[in-house]
Amino acid sequence: MKKRIAVLPGDGIGPEVIKGALQVLDGVATRFGHEFETIEQVFGGAAIDQEGTPIPDATLKTCKDSDAVLLGAVGGPKWDKGDVRPEQGLLALRKEMNVFANVRPVHVYPGLEHLSPLKSNKVKGADFVFVRELTGGIYFSEPKERNENCAVDTLSYTREEITRIVEKAFELASSRRRKVTSVDKANVLETSKLWREIVEDVAKKYPNVETENLLVDYAAMRMISNPTSFDVVVTENMFGDILSDEASVLTGSLGMMPSASLSENGPGLYEPIHGSAPDIAGSGKANPIGMILSVAMMLRHSFQLEKEAVAVELAVFETLQAGYRTGDIYGDSGTLVSTKEMVNQIHFRMLEDS
Ligand code: NAI
Ligand code: MG
Repeated sequence: MKKRIAVLPGDGIGPEVIKGALQVLDGVATRFGHEFETIEQVFGGAAIDQEGTPIPDATLKTCKDSDAVLLGAVGGPKWDKGDVRPEQGLLALRKEMNVFANVRPVHVYPGLEHLSPLKSNKVKGADFVFVRELTGGIYFSEPKERNENCAVDTLSYTREEITRIVEKAFELASSRRRKVTSVDKANVLETSKLWREIVEDVAKKYPNVETENLLVDYAAMRMISNPTSFDVVVTENMFGDILSDEASVLTGSLGMMPSASLSENGPGLYEPIHGSAPDIAGSGKANPIGMILSVAMMLRHSFQLEKEAVAVELAVFETLQAGYRTGDIYGDSGTLVSTKEMVNQIHFRMLEDS
């Protein structure tokens, strides 16, 4: 299989983790006989320095003309005071690519439970996925205005917007443990009442998937009191923003977590959830696993290469089982390694498993 991938290293540790991800991708190509053409473009702060804008036209065009986009991270203190900010590029890219579904796995790896702020026995085995609506809801609905003494935000959702995100969640659940938890505020919000109706409709097409509807306040409580009770969680934009950040804390390390932002038919955008980590950039301390697992998500969601995705995830799992740790996940045992060494260990297992 031949695929074309736009690569946006970005700023800070972005280029370091991207380098690792491409090494692992190369391992996938070798082992499974695929061809991945990668086209690197400037983005974020690096693009502001070079071209005066965080998202130059050539970068956007390459992204739109590719089968998928891999993004490191953007931002840093250098650009915080400028007129244009690197993060504006991120919002523009998501909008231009029309990625309406943000998919974020929350996985507590065996042996890393102690990193969680919750008790180890509570988070042990937690493995669920957030599916957050990303392009609608209160962040985007009109009118949005204010005068001196009053401010207005609007929350509106169309049937079409809700249906496509709910369908995504059920599809995903079908390939997992077959449970969808839909989160809303149907006791108060009209949009949530429509949301719940649509969930019931879509659920009929998936008789093998168990469905539950939770109010957002209760969902927030259950996420920390019983995180192993979730498989796929689907929700609207603002609830998803808050709950997915709450959930990311459960695993204890930002550096481990991947994400995918999916469009209807166009390329998907794959990036770790962490930022550019200016405090450790250039020191070889960055954990590359969130970025590498984002590659696995790309293989699965954009290229339908499930076997290959599992191979990457297995190589990560085995490397962790063998005790290799970057600083952010180092406890009192194990082997402390640099970004490069962690990548080499994963790459090596990726090839060795064949
Ligand atoms: P951050 O995620 O960059 O860092 C938070 C903390 O986690 C830091 O102590 C950092 O060293 C650590 N960390 C993050 N990723 C790590 C990794 N892979 N391995 C080891 N440790 C890791 O968030 P922060 O510091 O709030 O933001 C830094 C810059 O990144 C800002 O300019 C912010 O706007 C930007 N940012 C960009 C994002 C993106 O590109 N999607 C997302 C979040 C922040
Ligand atoms: Mg957030």
